Amino acid sequence: MSALPGSFEGTAVTGLDSSPVEPAAPDLPLLTAQHEAEAAEIMARYPQARSALLPMLHLVQSVQGYVSPEGVGFCARLLGLTKAEVGAVATFYTMYKRHPTGRHLVSVCTNTLCAVLGGQRIYDAVSADLGVGHDQTAADGSVTLEHAECLAACDYAPVVTVDYEFYDQQDVDSARELVAALRRGEKPPPTRGAPLTDFRGVSRQLAGLSQHADAAAERAAVDAPSAGVPTLVGVRLAAERGEAAPPIGRAPDPGADAGTPAPEAPSSGGTGAERAGDATVAAATNPAEKAGAEQVHTDAPEPAGRRPAERGAEGTDTPPTGSGAGTNSSVEREV
Ligand code: FES
Repeated sequence: MSALPGSFEGTAVTGLDSSPVEPAAPDLPLLTAQHEAEAAEIMARYPQARSALLPMLHLVQSVQGYVSPEGVGFCARLLGLTKAEVGAVATFYTMYKRHPTGRHLVSVCTNTLCAVLGGQRIYDAVSADLGVGHDQTAADGSVTLEHAECLAACDYAPVVTVDYEFYDQQDVDSARELVAALRRGEKPPPTRGAPLTDFRGVSRQLAGLSQHADAAAERAAVDAPSAGVPTLVGVRLAAERGEAAPPIGRAPDPGADAGTPAPEAPSSGGTGAERAGDATVAAATNPAEKAGAEQVHTDAPEPAGRRPAERGAEGTDTPPTGSGAGTNSSVEREV
C-alpha cells in the first residue's frame, strides 16, 4: 500500500502504510466554504452524520481529483471522525484514488470472462499507447489507466469503462481509438447509460450532487437507457417459460381486520410443508408469483434431466443418502 500522497503526516494519516510522502501539487484546488455547505447538504441526508463519509469522499475527489490529505482532514473535521478512521475507509475502496487522477479514468476489465475474450490484450495495447501501467496517469494528464476486476457487464465482454460509463464489446482497435479520442479532448458517447463527463464530474454525481446546468439536462442523463438486449435475455426467457423467482414474504397488511380470519387456501391435505406450499400458491397475486410458488412447492415435479434428490421440509434439495453416504461418492463419481 502507498501513503496518501501530499501528506506531511505520513503514516499518521491512515495508520496503514509507510511508503514515501509526496508533496501536494501547488495547483491543487482548495476545499472551500462552498464545499463545506455541500458536505452539510450530504450529511443532512443521513440520521448519523458519519454515514455520509462515502459520498463526502466522492465530493473531495470531485474537487481535487483524488482523496488528498486535506480531503481526509476535511471529512474528519466535519464528521467528527479521526483522520485514521477516514483514511482507513479511503484506502479500503479502489474507487477512492490516492494520487491525482487524470481528466478521465479508463478501466479495462481483465477478469475472467473479459480476459478470455481479449481484455488483457486491450489493457496491454492501451497501456503501451499511454506509456503507463496500472493506476498511473499519462504524462499529458488526460487519462489514468487501471485494470479492473469484473465491471458487472460480463454480458457485454470485453468491457472498458471511462469514468464508470460503459463501452461494451471492445476490441484492441476500438479501445485504442477510444483512448486516443479522449486524449484529443473528445467525449465519445458510451454504448449505453448516461453521457460521458469526466472523472471529477462523475465524482460529483457519486456524491449525490448535480453537475448539470439545469433540471432537463440532469433528467436526460439520469433517464438514459442502461439495460440492453443481452442484459435482459434471462428475463425474456423466464417470461417465455412462465418462470419466476419465489415470492418474497409479505408484511402483514396493517389495514386488515385482525378479527376476521383470512380466507382458507384450498388444500389437498398432506404434510405441513405441502399445505404451506398450497397456501403460498393460493396467495399469489399474479401469474409470475404463482409460477414461482409452484416451483418451490414440495409437490413440484423434478425438472427433466435432474438427478433425483430428497427434499427437506423447507423444500431444499439434499444429496442422496445410502450407499454413498459418508464417502462423498456422489461428487466423486461425477468428477
Ligand atoms: S468479467 Fe469483465 S465485466 Fe465481468
